[in-house]
Amino acid sequence: MAGQRIEIDAGGFGLVLGVGDDGRVHQLGFGRDTAPATADLPTWLYPLAYPTFGEEHLREPALRITHGDGATSTRLVYRGHHQQVDGRGTVHRIELADRVAPVRVTLCVRPWPDVGLIEQWVEVTNDGSAPCTLHQVAASAPSFTAVDPHLTHWGGGWANEWTETTERIASGTKTVASAGGVRSSLHLPPLALLAPDGIASEVHGRVAAVTVAWGGDVRFDVEAAPHGQLRVIAGAQHRGAERILDPGASFSSPPAIWAWSETGIGPTSRALHRYAREHVVRDGGRTRATVVNTWEALFFALDPERLGAQVDVAADLGGELFLLDDGWFGTTHPRDDDTTGLGDWEVDRRKFPHGLQPLIDRTLKTGMRFGLWVEPEMVNPASSLYEDHPDWVIAEAGRDRREERNQLVLDLCRPEVAAFCLGVIDRVLTEHPGISYLKWDANRDVTEPGSGAAGIATDRQSHLPIDRVRATYELMAEVGRRHPDVELMACASGGGRGDFGTLRYFHEIWTSDNTDPLDRVRIQWGASHLLPASVLGAHVTRWGNKPLAIGCAVAMSGRFGLDLDLQAIDPAEREILREAVATYARIRDLVQHGQLYRLVSPIGTDRASLAYVDDEGDRAVAFAYRLADELVGADEPGSGPGHAPPLAGLLAAIQPSRTYVVRDITPGRASPGPARVEVLGADVASAMFAWPAGPAPAATIWEISAG
Ligand code: GLA
Repeated sequence: MAGQRIEIDAGGFGLVLGVGDDGRVHQLGFGRDTAPATADLPTWLYPLAYPTFGEEHLREPALRITHGDGATSTRLVYRGHHQQVDGRGTVHRIELADRVAPVRVTLCVRPWPDVGLIEQWVEVTNDGSAPCTLHQVAASAPSFTAVDPHLTHWGGGWANEWTETTERIASGTKTVASAGGVRSSLHLPPLALLAPDGIASEVHGRVAAVTVAWGGDVRFDVEAAPHGQLRVIAGAQHRGAERILDPGASFSSPPAIWAWSETGIGPTSRALHRYAREHVVRDGGRTRATVVNTWEALFFALDPERLGAQVDVAADLGGELFLLDDGWFGTTHPRDDDTTGLGDWEVDRRKFPHGLQPLIDRTLKTGMRFGLWVEPEMVNPASSLYEDHPDWVIAEAGRDRREERNQLVLDLCRPEVAAFCLGVIDRVLTEHPGISYLKWDANRDVTEPGSGAAGIATDRQSHLPIDRVRATYELMAEVGRRHPDVELMACASGGGRGDFGTLRYFHEIWTSDNTDPLDRVRIQWGASHLLPASVLGAHVTRWGNKPLAIGCAVAMSGRFGLDLDLQAIDPAEREILREAVATYARIRDLVQHGQLYRLVSPIGTDRASLAYVDDEGDRAVAFAYRLADELVGADEPGSGPGHAPPLAGLLAAIQPSRTYVVRDITPGRASPGPARVEVLGADVASAMFAWPAGPAPAATIWEISAG
């Protein structure tokens, strides 16, 4: 067994492992061209493939177990390797076991050669006769040689999602982790980029990108050890989530997914987008509808007459799906604001004396679809549900029940609660067969993480963080099975559920409650490092009171929609919205399914540019935003107003010797530039691109098609 090599290739991006003389498994290579890296040194000099507590005693572990006999160190030795073929491809299962304790650890590696990604997770099995405790089971812990390591991560919380930080990793361990369990990606999206050789650009530098596909808290530990050794330990957050593993039981960690690029950040995002569309998101290839939502139009002040008027304008503008947001339910505690009613999913007959059906019928008659907001996992204490079942919430005995947004989290680990939540959705959908879309919200995190579920004993309360996410997945999966034609948007106070674990059950997410176009440029820019535009709900609203034209130009680079009082728009605004809806319908195949090229970053500047290109390089749509009158960095060559933004990335995707027709398609353009020019691909940049003129904020959208 010693000397054995395991080579795993995901289309030019690979992982090579080797078994040392002592039976331990080392990582010989990770990245591109891994094979040559494996020849020269003795195997034991390479870092461990999966470090355990007590083994590399100066380094951070990926696995920590207290064994059945009380021992706290684990040394894993190689037992075998085999490949398993299933409906999704091949999994390499590398079987290890502790040298003494009856614990098996399987490193699972699934290459995705069609998209160039590697997925990794770890299974632990207790073969002994006494329980053991799993303190930490990370999904993956690859090592890198690094000369000037930089880490990029995001965070920000409500209305500030995806705020970027890039920092140099000095000696020691840098940990970034989410918390709260429900809206984890609101606080810390589950994505980290590592640039081992210094800050990478979109087109230059080695970059490793890793996401943890998990709808709960995640954690990245980036450890810089002496001699340029760097390791990234990625997995679900383990703190507070220890698990007792009974004899014969197994635990499987949530997976981590890695992308690799030798040519900057851009390729990692495009690989993750393809993976999301083809292997994660429900119906990922389907074109998304243009949604018209009621939240920012009417908030809780719903009445059928006003809603009917909104429906008529929405249809007239070309909207395709009318979404009735919060405020439609509550009987004993009507939902007139966010303090009451959550949990009581009966239509509020004061607001809708004849129920929702007349509004649904009116919507369907226009040719639009109808969608409805629900928040099934939560409850306001001021509700009949809570009065009847105060024990149904996540809480700890004898501790206060802290409220966030005046609500508590229902305990889905209790089968009766899970059945209730499923019943809520079932009933809403069966009673109203005209509903073909749900916005599924979740507006608070877990505090006091206690469960009264029979399956979670008092000595196993720390199982809740994992078990609650799994129970939520089960609910989401069952909704999908029972109602396969109903599309689902995941919302959690905005972008709190933007992860590849949850997205397996959803079609799209609400990117952020913050729809100020200036902030949205940065939020959507950040989100695009993980998520394709097809899942990034982006609506034109009055948030920030910017001109609607700029709001349209920003929302059109995502999954477009409207969310403003359509009775209160003036005729000029109405024409801008109408034009934007029609233009978006023409370009959305590119935005939603094209390859993203980020051209100019809004981070630290007051401008941004991005483009989507089809796979053949025949068509593209490019967006440029000027966010302030005085451009930061405007003295850089080629970056001032009137100058071309750098287009290296875009030019790589279109063909230099072909003729392209370039058209300015910006909605509401007061004084359009040349409406249509014909140029060679090589001249596209100089012929058309200029930072939008006029007072900021300003935007330009170009459509580029091969002539
Ligand atoms: C959350 C969502 C919003 C909206 C409100 C309704 O805040 O993020 O989009 O649906 O709930 O209460």
